[in-house]
Amino acid sequence: MRTPFVAANWKMHKTVQEAIDYARNFVPLVASVSDVDIVLAPPFLALPALVEATEGSRVGVAAQNVSAEPNGAFTGEVSVGMLGAAGVTQVIIGHSERRQLYGETDAGVNAKTRAAIDAGLTPIVCVGETLDEREADRTFDVLDRQVGEGLAGLTPEQVAALVVAYEPVWAIGTGRVATPDQADTVHRHIREQLTSQFGDAAASGCRVIYGGSVKPANAMELMALADVDGALVGGASLDPASFAAIVTASRPSTT
Ligand code: PGA
Repeated sequence: MRTPFVAANWKMHKTVQEAIDYARNFVPLVASVSDVDIVLAPPFLALPALVEATEGSRVGVAAQNVSAEPNGAFTGEVSVGMLGAAGVTQVIIGHSERRQLYGETDAGVNAKTRAAIDAGLTPIVCVGETLDEREADRTFDVLDRQVGEGLAGLTPEQVAALVVAYEPVWAIGTGRVATPDQADTVHRHIREQLTSQFGDAAASGCRVIYGGSVKPANAMELMALADVDGALVGGASLDPASFAAIVTASRPSTT
């Protein structure tokens, strides 16, 4: 039985003070939820304040990106060591916005994933096809490449402990959510690929979560799918009550 994993991706939203205010509202709303792993991913600047504001709760804090390099002349970058020292426990890697807007490659995702694991951070590795790729019937090819190359060289134990986020690019921020049927098909495919690449134990331990226009109204039917182990939530995570409703909908008892 995999513990559901639900993460808020705030993207470039919220000041430090807004992050603290959010935590004050949100933490009590999920205080009784002990059967879901909950993570907030604010912009870098708000990470230390959010680590402090969530201390003593089960709410973890993730970065939205990280460098694969340990340190050095890399203007604008942040290392895994810096995140760990700040109390961050997870990191989103290879989000489609980073792939599309900042040229991230599967090799880069792989390097960041390895660096994160070596530093004791849990990677949330994002994969997903564009609308063109889906319409050209290339969804599985794209995902096989992103999962295959993104996780290349990892051990089965490392794969079992990480999180893969399936986020169809056409569903991100568009209000157009994958149907349960579409999500089910892809999540099962990803699980099969994990099995063939890393074996049964890795595939059955790895949480494969869905992202793309998840809202309180659609969360429950997606979370009820056997191979959907949680959600990566953008827009609907910016409001504490809305994100708390999605966390609640992801509880094993409700799905
Ligand atoms: P969305 O974003 O929920 O606003 O579609 C999801 C994501 O990009 O992680």
